[in-house]
Amino acid sequence: MPQVKFLGHACVSITQDDHRLIIDPFLNDNPQAAVKADDIDVNYVLITHGHGDHVGDGITIAKRCNATVIASFELANMCAKEGCTIHPMHIGGRFNFDFGWVKLTIAHHGGGHGEDASRYTGPPVGFLVNIGGKTIYHPGDTGLFYDMKLIGDRHRIDLAFLPIGDNFTMGVDDAVTAAEFLQAGKVVPFHYSTWPVIEGSPEEFAAKVKGSEVVILNPGESVDL
Ligand code: NI
Ligand code: MN
Repeated sequence: MPQVKFLGHACVSITQDDHRLIIDPFLNDNPQAAVKADDIDVNYVLITHGHGDHVGDGITIAKRCNATVIASFELANMCAKEGCTIHPMHIGGRFNFDFGWVKLTIAHHGGGHGEDASRYTGPPVGFLVNIGGKTIYHPGDTGLFYDMKLIGDRHRIDLAFLPIGDNFTMGVDDAVTAAEFLQAGKVVPFHYSTWPVIEGSPEEFAAKVKGSEVVILNPGESVDL
């Protein structure tokens, strides 16, 4: 069974035997992160889009750990330019890795890197990760989109993370609808209350979701699959 740990904001680590993955490792500049970048030891770094709160420490971690960056073609190539080993993919594409498979989904959001997000890193994506017989959905930053129904119909999702912080992504009510579309076994709210502008109530989310078990995690806590 994979161990899935929430590390703060949109950062998730997934461990299964010798396979260690981290998604969107925004740690050192994250006021709520459970760990520092130097504490991370992984084989793969998955990055949903170019924004600083998602690329985060991904490039330094990937280089130090000799890990492979899995991202969109554009974002992966930016990481390669910075010295990372990469596996570029794109929306709709699936690939079998040594740990399981990854499939890229759409996400409705922006995709630039740098202080003013002006360095082109392609469209944002979400990840479906299948590992140890479980399927985990990390949607990245996104607004609600109706194709989440298709994603839920086509994949038996054991665990889905959903942003609830509003302003830059879905807020609570749209995330409740997203949970209905996805029909995941468990749902974990994330991407909220890192800063005042994305204040969100996981309790309100938990009270409104029907049909999936909502698990509220503090940074550093794991969810059982
Ligand atoms: Ni973003
Ligand atoms: Mn974000």
